[in-house]
Amino acid sequence: APSLSTTLAGLSLESCIFNASGPRSGTDSALSKVATSRAGAILAKSATIEEQTGNPLPRTWQCDGVASMNSEGLPNKGIDYYLAEETITSSKAGTDKPYMLSISGHTLADNVEMLKRMGDNPLIDAVELNLACPNVIGHPIIAYDMEQLEEALSTVSKLKLKKPLGIKMPPFFDGVHFAAAAEVINKYKKSVAYVASINTIGNALVVDVHAEMPAINPKGGFGGISGPAVKYTALANVKKMRELLDPSIDIVGVGGVESGTDVFEMLLCGATAVQIGTKHWIEGPACFDRIAGELEELMLKKGYKSIDEFKGKLKPWS
Ligand code: DOR
Repeated sequence: APSLSTTLAGLSLESCIFNASGPRSGTDSALSKVATSRAGAILAKSATIEEQTGNPLPRTWQCDGVASMNSEGLPNKGIDYYLAEETITSSKAGTDKPYMLSISGHTLADNVEMLKRMGDNPLIDAVELNLACPNVIGHPIIAYDMEQLEEALSTVSKLKLKKPLGIKMPPFFDGVHFAAAAEVINKYKKSVAYVASINTIGNALVVDVHAEMPAINPKGGFGGISGPAVKYTALANVKKMRELLDPSIDIVGVGGVESGTDVFEMLLCGATAVQIGTKHWIEGPACFDRIAGELEELMLKKGYKSIDEFKGKLKPWS
């Protein structure tokens, strides 16, 4: 079979496909099912300092094959849970797959505190700083504000982290916004090992015609859109970030990936690894086995033995 292996942020992954932070990633028992699937790494739910239950219910909506929406509001068990040896050992389920944290503090000071608590914990392989959550009531999406993005990266770069840092980005929709974000990130290229694009498309609205109400409760029904509807936006973000970011920074593609073909598209656009959120939520961890098999089949048909043979090689029309 062709090899699906990749190197992300200096870490060896047996498979370039793994879970996005969010769905089915909040507990060791959920993460252990990712570990024992064909996923190449294990990424935990975005943590805050304290455990929290998230936004009022109902806060999710799904239309399989089309789109999903959530305004979870970062329900999680608190950073100390995701840092605990017991949690990590049980999450890895006897595998040697990289275990990655995600953090999404209420403030920059909270993120700094969580990174300090992580320290040089030998059980943690990388950390993803979520700069793109659309669902915290009263807080804007950090990475849409270039001053806040710069302040976050500048502060974190001074911490001299012992672990590779990824940043989770929101989708951008215009050339000047891509350029502005990439310029800030490139300034901190020594501190940013990868960029994961995209988080959900924030502040969308689903209407329930029967009830004549929004489909979800929090924020007047506004929530983040994910699933197949966002794949084209995600591909554009991966492609554009690959063009604009320093080559030392890896790109992780995330958004609407449901099949081996979708993963192939992300890799062609320059992704080094691909995360799966919504499909993992809907189908469960078996999606990693199915999608890895589909990617192998497609590579076999095309005559590729490794992802490096086509990664970033989307051909131009002229
Ligand atoms: O869509 C999202 N939902 N993105 C995040 O970053 C956080 C999550 C939530 O918990 O609301």
